[in-house]
Amino acid sequence: MKKISLKKNHLQLYKRENSKIWQIKIKLPLKKALRVSSGTSVLKEAKEIANKKYDLLSLENSNNINIYKYHPIKKIHLIKSKDLTKEEIEYLIQESFKYIKFNKQKIKKSKILEGRIIFNLFFEDSTRTRTSFEVAAKRLGADLINVALKDSSINKGETLLDTITTINSMNPDVLIVRHPEEGISEKISKMVNSCVINAGDGSREHPTQALLDALTIKKKFGSFKNLKIAICGDIMHSRVARSNIEILNKLGSNINIIGPKEWIPADIKKLKVNIFNNMKEGLKDCDIVMMLRIQKERIVRKIMPNEKLYFNQFGLDYKKLAYAKKNAFVMHPGPMNRGVEIDSKLADDITRSLIQEQVSMGVAIRMTCLEILINNKDLYGS
Ligand code: CP
Repeated sequence: MKKISLKKNHLQLYKRENSKIWQIKIKLPLKKALRVSSGTSVLKEAKEIANKKYDLLSLENSNNINIYKYHPIKKIHLIKSKDLTKEEIEYLIQESFKYIKFNKQKIKKSKILEGRIIFNLFFEDSTRTRTSFEVAAKRLGADLINVALKDSSINKGETLLDTITTINSMNPDVLIVRHPEEGISEKISKMVNSCVINAGDGSREHPTQALLDALTIKKKFGSFKNLKIAICGDIMHSRVARSNIEILNKLGSNINIIGPKEWIPADIKKLKVNIFNNMKEGLKDCDIVMMLRIQKERIVRKIMPNEKLYFNQFGLDYKKLAYAKKNAFVMHPGPMNRGVEIDSKLADDITRSLIQEQVSMGVAIRMTCLEILINNKDLYGS
């Protein structure tokens, strides 16, 4: 009998004397060995099938009630990109690749977070972040509750902190918080027993957005070193820009910031970035052009630019993209304002735009964050 070990004793391929077909043996800890046919005599195909079956079975059988993992990241909250080390960011990215694979399966359900309760507390509008956290939580087997804050007792005069205390009394495992006030997630993390994830606080931080952007870049380019990334538009009011600068800088990329003078805040100038007020100069030699929306909801008592004039100067179209490297890619965190910061045709051009890929990566990275934070809370939380 021919035998090949793929994951030591946990995954093996074997072929009997009288058969051409490779058989698969999977042995998970505390489980009976499972033997199935790969259905193929081609070793390369059999290895691929065996690895897929092993990954699926491991995810289906994992249940963190008994199996805790010692990750190099020990945090139980995810509030600021600033607080993440290079090693922690790289670990979160690396761990997400298993979920990219998992999310391509026909059946996308595991028991890793079975019995866990997660609350989506969005005090500001959202499509991508709210739904991708919901998809991520459900794929890991958790129960996710979307609190309809527009219909909540906040309308009857209850304070935000009373609402949080009330939800905390229901023993949640994670609170995912989006709020226009900067620093609110940090405040909440000090009041509750659960993990807290900042899903965007005012103009300050949106760490899971920057992590999903980094995962998208890693998947496309393989490395961050020597990449030149332009972040363009309304930098002043953008939490995505701040979180991305923190994370991409730590990963070793060079960052060009491009925008109108009045939208380049003084604090950004202190960071390791090159600043431009002109797309032609700022996009030179860039590998990635990350466009930002004008954050109208955060621009109060100021004159909004004329959208047509703004597009002519700072909107990205094929002509301006040609200032960047020949095969440069376009990113945008969404929601997009077509014809204001980005040309509609370019946004939909899958040979140049990574925008839909970013959404996909959002689910994978959020699955990783939920898995690791809950695991850490069980191990290190009070
Ligand atoms: N990128 C982002 O945060 O999008 P949503 O506002 O739709 O969540």
